[in-house]
Order: sequence, then C-alpha cells, then structure tokens
Amino acid sequence: MRRSLVVGNWKMNGTQASAIKLASDILAGLNGADAEIAVCVPYVYLSDVGQLVKGTQLALGAQNVGDQESGAYTGEISATMLKDFDCKFAIVGHSERRAYYGDSNAMVAARFAQALAQGIKPILCVGETLQQREQDQTFQVIDEELDAVFDLAGVDAFSDAVIAYEPVWAIGTGMTASDQQAQEVHQYIRGRFADKNAALAENLQILYGGSVKPGNAKALFAMPDIDGGLIGGASLDADSFLQIYRAA
Ligand code: PGA
Repeated sequence: MRRSLVVGNWKMNGTQASAIKLASDILAGLNGADAEIAVCVPYVYLSDVGQLVKGTQLALGAQNVGDQESGAYTGEISATMLKDFDCKFAIVGHSERRAYYGDSNAMVAARFAQALAQGIKPILCVGETLQQREQDQTFQVIDEELDAVFDLAGVDAFSDAVIAYEPVWAIGTGMTASDQQAQEVHQYIRGRFADKNAALAENLQILYGGSVKPGNAKALFAMPDIDGGLIGGASLDADSFLQIYRAA
C-alpha cells in the first residue's frame, strides 16, 4: 500500500521570520496522521526550518539541487550541502526551472542523480504546457522527461524517488486539471514503470501538482493513481496546507 505524501513548495516567497512562523504553524497543526508531509523551503531557510522540524513528522526538502558533485558552479547548491541540513527531498525539474532557467531534460536527470547519490529523494516534476496538451503531445512530453532520467539513472532508481505530475497550465493559474484528466496521466506514468518493474510501479508515489486547494484536494487524492500533492500557493498558508494534508 502506498503512503500518501503532501509536499509544500514555498518557491521564492517569504522572509526568515515568515518561514519560521509558517513552519511552526504547520507543526502546531499536525495530528500524527499517517500520510507523509514535507516542506521544500528556500535554500537560505533550510537551517532555520530544519532546526524546527528535526525529530518531527514534518520532513525538510529543497526546491532544486546542483547537477554536479562540487566545483566551480557559481550559484549552485550541491546534494552534499543539502545532506548537511538533513534534507529528505529535493524537487528537480520543476516547470518554472525548465521554463525560466533553461533546465533541460538532461540537466534535470543529472540533478536527479546527484540527489539520489546523497540519499536525498528527488521529486521529479513532469508535465505538459497548454499548447502541448492541445496538440495531443501530453504523453510524448512526459515520455521524454522520464526517458532522460531512465537513460542516466535507470528505472530502479525510482524506488527512492517521487514523481510529481504538474500540468504547466495548472500551476499558479487556478486552473486545476480535472480529477479524470489528472488520473489519466498518473495512470499512464505508472504504466510506464509497470512495463519495466511491476513492484516498483506499485509502490511509486505519484503526486499531482497545479492549483491544489483545500476545496479540490479530496477529490483529486481519491483517484486511484494520485498519491498526494505538490502544493505551491496554498502551502504558504498553514491552515490551507494542513487542510490539504488532511485530505490525503
Ligand atoms: P500551485 O503550484 O499549487 O501554486 O499551482 C504548484 C507547484 O508549482 O508545485
């Protein structure tokens, strides 16, 4: 049986004070439910939030990770560095990274491999733009995004990884994929794994992301292949985030 997982992606929001307050408020509202919960915070607040969540149910994650082990890569943060802060997760290949900072499929695969090498679970984001969906390219785009990681790290690497299906057109737009639309793609993704390793496919956590809110979370999470969510905007409010968590 797969455990549900709800992950907050704070993106480039907040201050040191607000990060500490948000993490504290989330912790205060946790009720020991069985689902997993994590927050992916800005790098510079990993230390503050890490100290708060140490030994609690709330896991720590980063929003990205360097594609190289170490060296002259100005501005990058390595998986080894994240390990120092006890990061359990690192998002890789978020569509904002792909669209605004040029993260290619190959680079995302390298980031994925770096995280794994340090025992950090990569959360690999995949998903199509509106134009790609309208041109019936959704599955092709997802294949390309997955194949780049299969080629570099192999399928079995996903036994320590998470996938987030995030249709780009649904991120931060208030336009959520319908439960059926999301389920269709989740099922497709799980099928790609089932062809290669049935046991792994059965255990793989596949999250949905894109305008998940307290009002739509329950229906999305009830779909058979949706194992939780990657939450952006609604994770910046402790109450909303906790309501979504309880829906899982
Ligand atoms: P959103 O973001 O919930 O604000 O749509 C999701 C994400 O980008 O992970």
